[in-house]
Amino acid sequence: MKTVSIASHLETIPGIKVRTDVPLARLTTFKIGGPAAVLITPETTEGLQAAIRVLADAELELFVLGNGSNMLVSDQGFDGVVLRIGSALGAVAIAPGDVLRIGAGCLWSGVLRFIQKEGWTGLEFGAGIPGTLGGAISTNAGTRGGETFDALVEVVGVDRQGEVRVLPAAEIPHRYRSSDLPERFVVTETAFRVRRDDPAAITETIRKYQAERRRDQPEREPSAGCIFKNPPGGSAGKLVDLAGLKGEKEGGAIVSPVHGNFIINQGGATATDVLRLADRLKERVKREHGIELELEVRLLGFGPEVAS
Ligand code: EPU
Repeated sequence: MKTVSIASHLETIPGIKVRTDVPLARLTTFKIGGPAAVLITPETTEGLQAAIRVLADAELELFVLGNGSNMLVSDQGFDGVVLRIGSALGAVAIAPGDVLRIGAGCLWSGVLRFIQKEGWTGLEFGAGIPGTLGGAISTNAGTRGGETFDALVEVVGVDRQGEVRVLPAAEIPHRYRSSDLPERFVVTETAFRVRRDDPAAITETIRKYQAERRRDQPEREPSAGCIFKNPPGGSAGKLVDLAGLKGEKEGGAIVSPVHGNFIINQGGATATDVLRLADRLKERVKREHGIELELEVRLLGFGPEVAS
């Protein structure tokens, strides 16, 4: 089915917003990339279920977008459907058994505010992660303090048939910075084990992580976060730094002088600039250290020939 007819079909569903030809640059933290053919924003789980059912028969690619961090959109954009899980699906509440239930569209900053105010410990490691909780599940987002699957109990979501399903964390294969959700599974809610603690102690831990991040990483300029995964036992940023590549440029993209694993959009950078620069870093790190770096950022709208 063509994107235009699918869009008009989707528009009849209550509980979702549909837009066509939507520039994705401003929906990503990199501020780079062309338009999505269709962008839908569910406001209710029922709306999402109905949309997924409509999309089930369409031979269109589907991409689930949260805060747009940790990703790079091609300059041509994405000729498919972007499903944006935002704050409408972002409630946070404590449930019996010391389980924190967090909507997939909630940002880590919202989670941190909640745990500080209410005095629940276990998720402080998320301080400084720019993304949503839904995004954190598919990327097993983490920091030096821990990673998403450490405290995860279960996720709730909508499967490719449009049914709501609960997946226990133990049944989701995961590893450093990635996990395997079922194909076309859209996470709507996450649940984490937490414990009571003193709000002041929680705030102190969060402030410490935030201060480290401000000291070690370029926080204000547009980037996708770390561009490469760390190789086992090492730091991609350090390898780039040791190879003398901080400040290296391609078009509007530059390797951050602060941290070697960040590529910054200095204004007007294209996705092509970023990939060319990343390729150069990979080549030079391979030559100097014999280590093959792998992209951490997800690519959207590139052909199959552009791999990690
Ligand atoms: N280092 C350098 N030069 C650099 C960068 C780092 O010498 O340009 C050194 C640091 O001095 C330190 C070591 O390398 O001794 C490790 O660096 P850092 O502590 O910054 O941690 P990282 O391994 O580079 C990881 C995560 C970050 C996360 C930080 C802090 C990955 C790829 N990176 O960075 O995650 O914020 O720890 O917890 O796992 C991300 O995933 O997008 C991300 C930014």
